[in-house]
Amino acid sequence: MKLSTLYCVLSLLQAALSSPIGPSKQLEALHRRNVFYAGGEYVFNATQGGTILINQQYVEELIPAAGAKHPYPIVFFHGGGISGAQWLNKDDGNAGWASYFLNQGYVVYILDIWSVGRSSATDLPPVLDARTVELVEIAFSAPEVYKNYYQAQFHTQFPGTGLKGDPAFDDFYARLLPLQFNARQENITRTSTCALLQIIGPAFFISHSIGGSAAFLATDGCPTLVKGHVAVEADQAPFTSYDTSVVGANMSSPARAYGIADVPLTYDPPVTDPSQLVQKMTGQLQYKDGLLFRYPCIKQGAPVHKLVNIAQAPVLFLTTQASVHILFDQCLVQFLEQAGVNVNFTKLADIGIEGNGHFSMLENNSDSIATYILSWLVTHE
Ligand SMILES: *[C@@H]1O[C@H](CO)[C@@H](O)[C@H](O)[C@H]1NC(C)=O
Ligand SMILES: *[C@@H]1O[C@H](CO)[C@@H](O)[C@H](O)[C@H]1NC(C)=O
Ligand SMILES: *[C@@H]1O[C@H](CO)[C@@H](O)[C@H](O)[C@H]1NC(C)=O
Ligand SMILES: *[C@@H]1O[C@H](CO)[C@@H](O)[C@H](O)[C@H]1NC(C)=O
Ligand SMILES: *[C@@H]1O[C@H](CO)[C@@H](O)[C@H](O)[C@H]1NC(C)=O
Repeated sequence: MKLSTLYCVLSLLQAALSSPIGPSKQLEALHRRNVFYAGGEYVFNATQGGTILINQQYVEELIPAAGAKHPYPIVFFHGGGISGAQWLNKDDGNAGWASYFLNQGYVVYILDIWSVGRSSATDLPPVLDARTVELVEIAFSAPEVYKNYYQAQFHTQFPGTGLKGDPAFDDFYARLLPLQFNARQENITRTSTCALLQIIGPAFFISHSIGGSAAFLATDGCPTLVKGHVAVEADQAPFTSYDTSVVGANMSSPARAYGIADVPLTYDPPVTDPSQLVQKMTGQLQYKDGLLFRYPCIKQGAPVHKLVNIAQAPVLFLTTQASVHILFDQCLVQFLEQAGVNVNFTKLADIGIEGNGHFSMLENNSDSIATYILSWLVTHE
């Protein structure tokens, strides 16, 4: 191929992504950065004929240039199918939550959860990722266009149209990575996040979506090192996964055999096999104007087992007005409360923060949500 032809092909490819966001509009908070890996162990691998390091987790430490003003740092757990980049500058070029909390004087740790991004592993099976542009628009950036559930109509805060071709959407979609989510990941994030806390000392957690599962598991693993957990639409419903795109309306599939994880958790009385947890359906499917409005939930039937380690850290659980999570987040909150966890369940619309979808930390009014989180952190220091 002639160089000029190659150049022409490259230019065409470039044109396909409307207009990249490029350098930021609003500068990130001034900070010093340090990168390291926490956890991990050397093992001999016979197939590879040598020793390899496995299970290490990428950590980015950001220290405010003006120094720390709070006694405990914040560890950020990103959601599924995206990396720690979710906490840096937003898709519209404005500063995100890492900057917000740096400016408030917090030392911030950003993980790439094990097997994701810069924590990807050499011995993982390939992942099938069926997340098309359409599914991302439906579930995250433009649910109001598709109206697959009642609350979708209230979504207004995603920058721009939330559709392919809008620069903010294109930037958001480009950041997405293959979704890794399995029991082995749960075990490893618990161990390697606790290894991080052994190094940095007690910390607050801020998690999003599937990252909430990693944060609960780390609390289970080393509860005395967790000051509190701000769970933004954490994880999914207990024992069940609902279809977040709501394409199949009432689609659910069994998941999380131990309630909120597929690996054993510290329950009292102890649970050595998932069959010891009695599942009890509560509530029912509700519709409004012919659209899905609430999912039923599964709680524990008697005897109720308490999550004694996870219960040692208070939780602020946030759910937005228009995310698909408004259909089922009450299920996880009820399950946690029943298991002895102290949860402050705040529906953002109830405190006047309206129009957000699932990725609220990347939406226009992200600072309003961060300000509310800050008020909770400060009272729990
Ligand atoms: C050794 O490495 C191979 C190839 O990467 C991988 O498939 C296998 O799971 C590893 N074995 C162990 C015991 O980790
Ligand atoms: C979000 O911000 C963009 C500018 O970045 C603006 O055009 C849009 O109207 C804003 N949307 C809302 C709901 O405030
Ligand atoms: C997770 O760890 C437990 C022990 O804590 C072990 O029994 C189980 O096999 C592990 N599961 C996976 C998938 O690695
Ligand atoms: C929805 O799912 C629940 C639980 O699987 C089932 O009991 C119910 O019949 C389903 N409803 C509809 C309308 O499909
Ligand atoms: C939940 O946390 C917020 C923020 O600190 C606080 O204003 C509110 O009173 C709390 N709600 C409950 C029920 O504790």
